[in-house]
Amino acid sequence: MRDTIRLLLDGSELDIASPPPTQTLLQYLRETLGHTACKEGCAEGDCGACSVVLAERAGTGLRWRAINACIALLPSLDGKAVYTAAGLAAADGRLHPVQQAMVETHASQCGFCTPGFVMSLFALFKSAGTPDRADIDRALAGNLCRCTGYRPIIDAALRMHALADANDPHGLARPGPAAAGDFETALLAQLDAIAPQQPLAYTHAGQHFCAPLTLSAACHALAAAPEATLLAGGTDIGLWLTKALRQLPALIYLGRVAELQALASDEHALLIGAAVPLSDAWAALLGEYPELTEIAERFASPPIRNAGTLGGNLANGSPIGDGLPVLIALGAQIELVSRRGTRWLALEDYYLGYRRQARQADELLARIRVPRRQPGQQLAAYKVAKRYDQDIAAVCAAFSLQLDAAGSIAEARVACGGMAATVHRARGCEAALRGRRWEAQTLAAACTALATDYTPLDDLRASAAYRQRVAANLLRRFFSETTAPAIATRAVAGGCR
Ligand SMILES: Cc1cc2nc3c(=O)[nH]c(=O)nc-3n(C[C@H](O)[C@H](O)[C@H](O)COP(=O)(O)OP(=O)(O)OC[C@H]3O[C@@H](n4cnc5c(N)ncnc54)[C@H](O)[C@@H]3O)c2cc1C
Ligand code: FES
Ligand code: FES
Repeated sequence: MRDTIRLLLDGSELDIASPPPTQTLLQYLRETLGHTACKEGCAEGDCGACSVVLAERAGTGLRWRAINACIALLPSLDGKAVYTAAGLAAADGRLHPVQQAMVETHASQCGFCTPGFVMSLFALFKSAGTPDRADIDRALAGNLCRCTGYRPIIDAALRMHALADANDPHGLARPGPAAAGDFETALLAQLDAIAPQQPLAYTHAGQHFCAPLTLSAACHALAAAPEATLLAGGTDIGLWLTKALRQLPALIYLGRVAELQALASDEHALLIGAAVPLSDAWAALLGEYPELTEIAERFASPPIRNAGTLGGNLANGSPIGDGLPVLIALGAQIELVSRRGTRWLALEDYYLGYRRQARQADELLARIRVPRRQPGQQLAAYKVAKRYDQDIAAVCAAFSLQLDAAGSIAEARVACGGMAATVHRARGCEAALRGRRWEAQTLAAACTALATDYTPLDDLRASAAYRQRVAANLLRRFFSETTAPAIATRAVAGGCR
């Protein structure tokens, strides 16, 4: 057992003995180290002012990903390399290409958001080839600026590669992840040297934190402390701390449990480890179901998807969680594991009521099993929200139909979020679809039935009547897209950029 976390901050190793388990990385940087390059805007993962970049081993190379420091708990960064805007310039003071491009295009005014934009662009600089406008929009979906109007920042993003230094000995000014030079070799060696070999477990001021390395150890830890909070990406839990000021006396961190990080597939299903980051989980789902591209892109922002997990989304069980309707429509099952054994549950059976789930206190969610595409399957998932990027859905609806060779609906699965206290299947709508031909008359009957399946929420985001109407309109859109795809446009009922 260890009680000291080790991380690399802007290339230098830090050993931190028994840090407060619920201290965020941002609090540590600003309040403990006085490192003010990382800004606090919202403290809830929305504005991107606190963005930092993690460099991680990915096979034989490196992967660079932005996360939000304001909701990342410091001990969860044990064994990781963190880069901030203060660490990008070369030793002789030369600005990093991203920073230089921001200067040259006048992309900073009050400057408060600037370090966060620089870090999101730095992650993009280290990730892809030369980005196009769509890549840039996607990369910046989690960064807000109140001054510039974004155009100069986008100009900087389009310019940064022209300023790249392919021979930079410092390494950070070389674009792309692939360049394997001395810098990358040294960073990989540093990462390997600090990679946890032993579980972390300590108590600070009465608060306990442990980070088991195996599923069996995690189950033991939970059996011994069933009241403990399971921590994955912390993108929900972070807000309990920074906004609700909740006290969490014991945390079991799942981000180091090897079995929960695995992605696998067989001829029947994809198997997604509960602690696989959303970025990777969505990528796996898109490989099988490319129709989910838009909903994957509209799930939060890259920094949230890089930290948050699919297991956390499903376990949190929010009635407005986007993963729930999509995976219920896909017929997903979840694996619950404890010291007592393992059981599989259809995802829809996991939700018993508002924030009430079928998980026993000593169980954790280990894997998500998603059936592979079937011949004749028609699928769509739509999110209606006030903004295109980084917004919570008023309604998130997912539809999956199995059409037989004669064009009749052999099986229907429909699930909507934002429409009730829990996400659940629209059984009346499904019954109106099943066994019928996929035609206008069936659609009309299914829309009528859908109105009886849910008692929508009436809140600040949308009225109940609006939600009912939108859900039916989304079913109509699905019909248009699947029966006359050439004339259906993707703009009909979606959000707007
Ligand atoms: C700015 C912002 C934007 C967001 N946008 C969206 C969005 O568009 N759509 C959406 O659906 N969500 C959104 N979220 C919510 C959140 O990002 C997701 O729910 C995410 O998937 C949570 O995963 P996590 O790993 O961070 O969970 P955590 O915060 O670590 O945990 C969440 C809950 O799940 C439990 N838990 C975690 N892992 C397990 C496990 N393996 N077994 C049992 N229990 C477990 C925890 O104990 C906790 O109760 C957003 C959040 C933020 C901050
Ligand atoms: S401070 Fe706004 S995302 Fe972190
Ligand atoms: S430059 Fe002022 S918020 Fe972006």
